[in-house]
Amino acid sequence: MTVQYSELIQPERVHGSLYTDPSIFAEELERIWYRTWVCVGHVSEVARPGDYVRKNVAAQDVIMTRSTDGEVGLLLNRCAHRGNLVCEDRRGNSSSFRCPYHGWTYRNTGELLGYPYNQGYGGKNKLELGLGRVPRVDTYQGFVFASFAAEGPTLKEHLGAAAGELDRLARLSPEGEVELTAGWLRHRAKANWKLLVENETDGYHPQFVHGSVFSVTGSPIGALYSDKSTAVTRDLGGGHSENDLRPEFRRAARPMGWFGTSEARVPDYVAKMRALHGEQAEEILIEGAPHVMVFPNLFIAEISVFTIQPTAVDETVQNVTAVQLKGAPEMNRRLLSQCVGSVGPAGMLLADDSEMYERNQRGMAARRPEWLDIRRGVGRERIDENGFRIGAANDETGMRGFWAHYRGLMEEGAAQ
Ligand code: FES
Ligand SMILES: [Fe+2]
Repeated sequence: MTVQYSELIQPERVHGSLYTDPSIFAEELERIWYRTWVCVGHVSEVARPGDYVRKNVAAQDVIMTRSTDGEVGLLLNRCAHRGNLVCEDRRGNSSSFRCPYHGWTYRNTGELLGYPYNQGYGGKNKLELGLGRVPRVDTYQGFVFASFAAEGPTLKEHLGAAAGELDRLARLSPEGEVELTAGWLRHRAKANWKLLVENETDGYHPQFVHGSVFSVTGSPIGALYSDKSTAVTRDLGGGHSENDLRPEFRRAARPMGWFGTSEARVPDYVAKMRALHGEQAEEILIEGAPHVMVFPNLFIAEISVFTIQPTAVDETVQNVTAVQLKGAPEMNRRLLSQCVGSVGPAGMLLADDSEMYERNQRGMAARRPEWLDIRRGVGRERIDENGFRIGAANDETGMRGFWAHYRGLMEEGAAQ
């Protein structure tokens, strides 16, 4: 039976089967994950020729490589002989990969170099085989994206207004570059990937889910999402959304206030930024880093970067690393410890959020009511000066933007 996405996704509600039906998950892989641009990592992870790291695009294992001529490429981690994983180590440096099963070797650009006992192949020493390659690879502000569709929108077109948020993050570095070199933590959640995406843009839950952490630590984050907050949720189009906290930071007008610190604590960094940006430095230091969900799987929560990787209809891996700013060692130590404290293995925020995704998934095993309600804030949305739809800090505006784009992709995919 063909799924009618226009029936399951309505402006103010979405159907529970979208999170639980394995056939919908299979269609999502084809129509979203193996078609649109998906973030896999960052060029700084393969800084030197020969560097490689293992990554994923949904369930597919890929190897991100830096070739001798400096190109970043994405190879599929699947031996052309009989399908074994060619690369086992999570990261390393090598000009070639050797499959452990029967010893076939490949250059780090994918060409087959050789195989043992070639008499079995009629003495031929070069079969026309090699590692698969992701058809399109592109980068923006160093973030590496993969698309399995040979044609389609460019990365720039896909990112649209979200590109400006990546620029805003890079601008916080005195050298204009972000580095994701702190290593990744992997958290597995028994929940559908869309529950994670929705949670990233959900400004309604922090006060409740993270209330105890905020009160113990005296954190002002909860207030940013309260009913009195001047922050907004913005639908950036293309399924991307942001929780724009800048109105609150501007009101407080404290340089480095967004980072929960003051300029006195990071004097070298602030001095570098002022020297570089002159008058504009104050605005940059006050407004801080973005809180943006880039469709379908890159989430930047100010100091932490997440990539979301669905592995089954009810299982998702969330990869997390700390933002590192090139040329700002003083900031980087703090960024790392704050990231680990909030979303590390014993982190205070992510543990609470994970509990919520998993409870959601379990709750939806019950079949009534059939729908999830996403109407919060519909009646008070407005269009901002740049033409984007915005809602209050704790409205579901971002979620509705996500679903509109999702529905478009799922319906286009059906038409092809
Ligand atoms: S499966 Fe890789 S060499 Fe046989
Ligand atoms: Fe949360």
